[in-house]
Amino acid sequence: MDYAPFELLEWQSLDDGAAQYSLADSGCRPVTVRELLDGEDVLDHLLDTPLHYPPERGQERLRELIAEHHCGQPDDVIVTVGAAEANSIAIDALVRPGDHVVTFAPGYRQVWGCAVNAGARVEEIHSTAAAGWRPDLEALRAAVGPGTRLIALTNPNNPTGTILTEQEMDEIVAIAAEAGAWILADEVHRGTELLTDAVTSSFWGRYERVICVGSLSKAFGMPGLRVGWLVAPREALTDLWRRHEYATVSTGSVSMALAEIALTERNRTRLTHRYRNLIRESRTWLDDWVTAHGDLVSYVPPPATALGFVAYHLDLPSRQVAETLRARGDVLVGAGAHFGTEGHLRIAHGHDPAYLAAALDRTASVLKELAAVHGQRPAGAPAPARHTPPAPTQ
Ligand SMILES: Cc1ncc(COP(=O)(O)O)c(C=O)c1O
Repeated sequence: MDYAPFELLEWQSLDDGAAQYSLADSGCRPVTVRELLDGEDVLDHLLDTPLHYPPERGQERLRELIAEHHCGQPDDVIVTVGAAEANSIAIDALVRPGDHVVTFAPGYRQVWGCAVNAGARVEEIHSTAAAGWRPDLEALRAAVGPGTRLIALTNPNNPTGTILTEQEMDEIVAIAAEAGAWILADEVHRGTELLTDAVTSSFWGRYERVICVGSLSKAFGMPGLRVGWLVAPREALTDLWRRHEYATVSTGSVSMALAEIALTERNRTRLTHRYRNLIRESRTWLDDWVTAHGDLVSYVPPPATALGFVAYHLDLPSRQVAETLRARGDVLVGAGAHFGTEGHLRIAHGHDPAYLAAALDRTASVLKELAAVHGQRPAGAPAPARHTPPAPTQ
């Protein structure tokens, strides 16, 4: 059976922790259970958590806290096993073979792959570093029509960190509304802003056909909890709920108990500050590295996320560069092709300083070796191909 793998995750899981330095996932140093419970008098409550099946849609208190985070209502929320489940069941609920689905590149390609595997006609709208990775809304307007079922986006963007302006959000809503299309807004990176303390606006409440996805994996620093969510209008909620039952039944009760603690107002603020402080500092280290190796690399400094989408000045495909970095430098990074855009590497910087410095040193050495063998593309010259063809099917 033809099946498009989720190339980024396949790349990470086949490596399976073998690379000495992994800058390939998109989080930051995670929170420990001890750090989360610091100052909380909850140990007895946690120890008494019954390990029975929890409510399928999620514990009511947790749904209330998630609803607050999006200014919605608890009945609009389904708690999922990470945003990964949320995106997957959203595509299963919304998309049928032949449907027209529009996504953005560079982008986190889970929704892209799920839609391809659902038999949709998937069209990517490409943005460029030269345009500061702003979304090309003229191209979006030209692509979307009455046959468009879904516009899927990630805000803030993974891998570029671009945050949509209010005007861009309004324009995307207007384009969707004109076509009657759904918007799937993956808002997992909300709270990772680097240049402002204002949390990125949610799409929730801007349009009746919007589904928002969130999780505790990024700004809260807890990917291991596997707690994510969907916020959806009644029109879609039942269909999503039925799919959630098939996929996972429910999220784990201990994870949900810890998630409730994480989402109280005190901890929401504490954890988001922690994460932002870490990635604001580590981004300066990545900035310094890019500046020091301006002959080899360049980038548009990201306004959010723990990621840098770094252009390398070589006429080589990104999968080859990433593979060489792994084989010769023992460093794992995401290849631009994994995000639909050639000529780049996605580098996660939210690491311990010594670890990041060693990994970046190795990265520079391997890029230098490649430049010596294959020659260098001058900084600013266009990458060989602006984007890559769809991932091969198996
Ligand atoms: C944009 C985006 N969506 C979804 C996910 C999956 O998140 P989770 O860990 O909550 O399943 C990620 C993880 O990297 C992501 O970056």
